[in-house]
Amino acid sequence: MVTLTIDGRTVTVPEGATVLDAARWLGLRIPTLCHVQGLEPAASCFVCAVRVEGRRTLQPSCALQVEPGMVVHTDTEEVRAIRRLALELLLSDHAGDCAAPCATACPAGLQIPEFLAHLAGGDARSALDSIWRHLALPGALGRICPRLCEQECRRREHDDGLAIGPLHRFATDRALSEPEPVLPPQAPQSGRWVAIVGAGPAGLSAAFYLLQAGHRVTLFDAKPLPGGMLRYGIPAFRLPKDALDAEIEVIRALGASFRMNAEWGSDFTLAELRSNYDAVFIATGAQHAQALRCEGEEFALSGVEFLEAVAGGSAPDLGREVLVLGGGNTAIDCARTAVRLGARSVRVLYRRTEREMPCLLSEAEQARAEGVQFEFLTAPVRLESLGRHHLILSCRRMTLGPPDSSGRPRPVPLDGSEFSIPASTVIAAIGQTVDRTVAEHSGLRVTTWGIAADPGTLATNLPGVFAGGDCMLGADLAVRAVAAGRVAAHSIGQYLRGEPLIPEPSLATVLLHPIDDDERAAIFRNIERAPRVPLPEIPMERRLSTFDEVETGLQPEQVPREAARCLSCGCGKSHSCGVRALATEYEADPNRFAGARRRWATDESHPEIIYEPGKCILCEACVRIAADAGEPLGLAPIGRGFETAVGVPFSRPLSEALLTSARRCAQACPTAALRLR
Ligand code: SF4
Ligand code: SF4
Ligand code: SF4
Ligand code: FES
Repeated sequence: MVTLTIDGRTVTVPEGATVLDAARWLGLRIPTLCHVQGLEPAASCFVCAVRVEGRRTLQPSCALQVEPGMVVHTDTEEVRAIRRLALELLLSDHAGDCAAPCATACPAGLQIPEFLAHLAGGDARSALDSIWRHLALPGALGRICPRLCEQECRRREHDDGLAIGPLHRFATDRALSEPEPVLPPQAPQSGRWVAIVGAGPAGLSAAFYLLQAGHRVTLFDAKPLPGGMLRYGIPAFRLPKDALDAEIEVIRALGASFRMNAEWGSDFTLAELRSNYDAVFIATGAQHAQALRCEGEEFALSGVEFLEAVAGGSAPDLGREVLVLGGGNTAIDCARTAVRLGARSVRVLYRRTEREMPCLLSEAEQARAEGVQFEFLTAPVRLESLGRHHLILSCRRMTLGPPDSSGRPRPVPLDGSEFSIPASTVIAAIGQTVDRTVAEHSGLRVTTWGIAADPGTLATNLPGVFAGGDCMLGADLAVRAVAAGRVAAHSIGQYLRGEPLIPEPSLATVLLHPIDDDERAAIFRNIERAPRVPLPEIPMERRLSTFDEVETGLQPEQVPREAARCLSCGCGKSHSCGVRALATEYEADPNRFAGARRRWATDESHPEIIYEPGKCILCEACVRIAADAGEPLGLAPIGRGFETAVGVPFSRPLSEALLTSARRCAQACPTAALRLR
């Protein structure tokens, strides 16, 4: 017997045992990938590395025999760093998608292939249940989200990206139009009560998840109705109020109470909320319109105030010639609203070029189709009022200079280029900021952009107070605010249970990008081209004269066909892959050594298993298992250097190599290189 010390504990094990065996005897966990119990060690992955006192280098514990008096350390900073490095090297040439590219692009992490599979099978209700697990307000977001997911859809390499946003909108509209109320499951009441300041996208989303977790919620908001920017900042032709109301009704039915017309700082204080509630989430958004910062700025209408007035039913009289200053979505919404209010000419003035406009390209195209004109490289200098609906805007032509702090080219005025434009109304939609005054007076720490909060947990400097969404980082996409609401609910849940605040883990992820022609041909070899469904729209004359929703949503018969175009990208072992799990645990950066990588390919010649050589980490577990099983042909590392991969000798098919041990090999394979069908 041999006695040694591991992490300060003494253990006695039989001679010939490995340090890994001894650690396991003590109940200590050392990670492994290439180790297969009962077979000769390959010692190829090095994630089981440990430090042995008196030895110059770290040693693989799976291949290291115990010696009397050995002193071993299994979890030091040095050991963790070498494991991280080993994992980064293993992932550096990995050819595969750990997750669907669309899902990794969605800021809320929606499990897109999962809900699309339900829709392809005609089950909108199950699709909505799947969507709700990650995303609140999917009907509203299906209408207004810029669909970052669709831009990354793998199908774009073949024909068109999936209509993901319209599909989750459909699932929501369909399920919520059922006569019976549709609600997500709810945990038993916790007896804890959370105050949410702001009933916009972040606040509603936090309420949605807190209520499901069994907590009580009261939302406070300065406006008469909940919805925040979704109600007051997005025109009805993009997001109809009844669609928004239907989703807010779900949150109300889960038990939310709303205290509307209640302004933080004048109607209640943070100190009161902290003493009356168990936790507070601040989600007040970024609603402070930026001033024009030129002479006569007081004669311009603020874009957000204009949209709010229209949403509240008191649209101002704009006159015939409207100028909108700005290049974001609010500017485009203002311009399209002005068209519907009867302005004869609507022009958007932007100081950079079309390429730099922060608005969605599709929104600008819609505006153009409705008759909105654009003037680029134009900036205001002075606004004069000569009477009601009689304004003169002096402008200057700009040119683009070197990039500024935002990374975009800085607009530089051209000397002697001043000119003036008459207008009945000038709308300034050049951005929104966070009003930090009340937060600061309430004892919250603030930054240049908003309320300071931990990016992972959204905890502020005050215990039990969390902040997220636009009020933390400034005006941003609604989907990011909705995602922040779920993060807040997660952290607040931990806080209410008295647990340490730990952010939801973000899984290490490799994506197959870019793909080359051979890979494209292999991925799409059995996929027929099928263009994306067209999105139905109302006729132009109705668009120009009403606030009716422009995109009317997919027809039921379009949905299964469109959803079935999804390729269910991602990895067959995404939740059981050992490399991914360890890379997440050790915070390995899969892209640290990214460079040349293996080619993506599949071998589907075996009736039981699928082989993806691009995901092989050459651990040789399968090689040893096949040999142990007495396979006549078996597997072997084939090729040289970077091109080495496990394969079948003599170029025989996989079905001949693994006659009896295929299942065992797939189960032992630490990645999805070998997996069961
Ligand atoms: S919320 Fe936006 S990014 Fe996420 S799936 Fe929906 S459309 Fe795509
Ligand atoms: S084909 Fe489906 S799973 Fe793949 S990226 Fe597109 S939507 Fe996502
Ligand atoms: S295919 Fe074989 S050698 Fe490659 S990772 Fe899987 S078990 Fe290891
Ligand atoms: S080197 Fe020990 S498990 Fe891979």
